[in-house]
Amino acid sequence: MTACIVGWSHSKFGKLDGETSESLIVKTASEAIAHAGIEPRDVDVIYVGNMNGGFVRQEFHSSLPLQAHPDLRFKPSTRVENACATGSAAIHMGLNTLAAKKARFVLVVGVEKMTELNSAQAGDVLIKASYVAEEATIEAGFAGIFGKITSAYFQRYGDKSDALAKIAVKAHKNGAKNPYAHFQKEFAYDFCRTPSDKNPFVAGPLKRTDCSPVTDGAAAVVLADVSAALGMKQAIAFRAAEHVNDFLPMSRRDIVKFEGPQLAWQRALSSAKLDLLDLSFVESHDCFTSAELIEYEAMGLTAPGEGERAIHEGWVERDGKLPVNVSGGLKAKGHPVGATGVSMHVMSAMQLSGSAPEGLQLAKAKLGGVFNMGGAAVANYVSILEPLR
Ligand code: COA
Repeated sequence: MTACIVGWSHSKFGKLDGETSESLIVKTASEAIAHAGIEPRDVDVIYVGNMNGGFVRQEFHSSLPLQAHPDLRFKPSTRVENACATGSAAIHMGLNTLAAKKARFVLVVGVEKMTELNSAQAGDVLIKASYVAEEATIEAGFAGIFGKITSAYFQRYGDKSDALAKIAVKAHKNGAKNPYAHFQKEFAYDFCRTPSDKNPFVAGPLKRTDCSPVTDGAAAVVLADVSAALGMKQAIAFRAAEHVNDFLPMSRRDIVKFEGPQLAWQRALSSAKLDLLDLSFVESHDCFTSAELIEYEAMGLTAPGEGERAIHEGWVERDGKLPVNVSGGLKAKGHPVGATGVSMHVMSAMQLSGSAPEGLQLAKAKLGGVFNMGGAAVANYVSILEPLR
């Protein structure tokens, strides 16, 4: 255990008219520093997670947190990018900086402003996170990539549309309790299961309710080394943090297997000396409902092809044996790509410190798992978190 999350902040996620990536960065950076109970001058290093790729014209974001306070001027700050795992990538840079003893306090801000573009334009940006040479002609943006993966899964194991609809229902039921979520309303099973004008097919077997939305938002954390964290108001420690990259082209992998996520989970659980079911909850990367289904298998909750058992038998519900995406996940909370990984860590830190919003807080939250993924199971990050004391 080398580092802790000692302060955090989370903007409302959604279509945030009137906000810019700059305003979101400044607000969450200030709030996270205040929440940690440190002074801006105490921050040694800053990382900004932002994918961008054309969502907004402003590409160069690293110095924007400096506008949160004059004492942040001249601090070293770097933008980090790793597709939809950008937020976790920025956190990992912070962990590495602390491990190298180059800092005592690191500020990490994840941000994305996606809704300047319509869904089709956003899809054109997101498809850049595929292997463009072979995959960029797939229709419907990144949904097309997961449409292909879902079709391949159905071909191998049978049609799992019932399970996907139940995963969407669970996400929205949980998201309805999350004041930070993009969608704060429940969706009925029949609505999610049945194609309609309001729930059309988007790509392959995936309907609109199987997709995470196009969302604006930011989240920030302050990381500290353990010696500094011991004296802080709140400290959530990294019991494990693993990062595994796989080949980018889907043609070089069995895309239904999610081998990179599986290895990241195995390494994290092994280094934490834990079994999966020791965890009180998991925040997992449900960019599409089928991603969550396959992730049940990758994390080791079920055998390959049996992921549906986890949802049909209620294991991953809020009151199940391993609650998954109590926050509403990417599906209901939203997926502002650069912010998502940071958001997952913030939601987990809230749970583990007993400070999650009313209705969201779990009765038992001792150990939390986070899985954040960039591309189609390409850049894979698993964190295991627990209170320091
Ligand atoms: N889930 C549920 N409802 C959604 C939704 C989603 N993902 N996205 C939009 N809606 C709702 C809107 O709130 C709106 O509801 P209303 O009519 O009650 O106001 C309605 O659907 C139409 O919204 P609109 O934005 O016009 O939908 P769209 O068809 O243009 O976009 C998607 C829907 C699914 C195509 C879009 O959200 C998308 O591209 N998502 C995937 C993003 C992605 O690839 N992220 C990266 C993953 S790795």
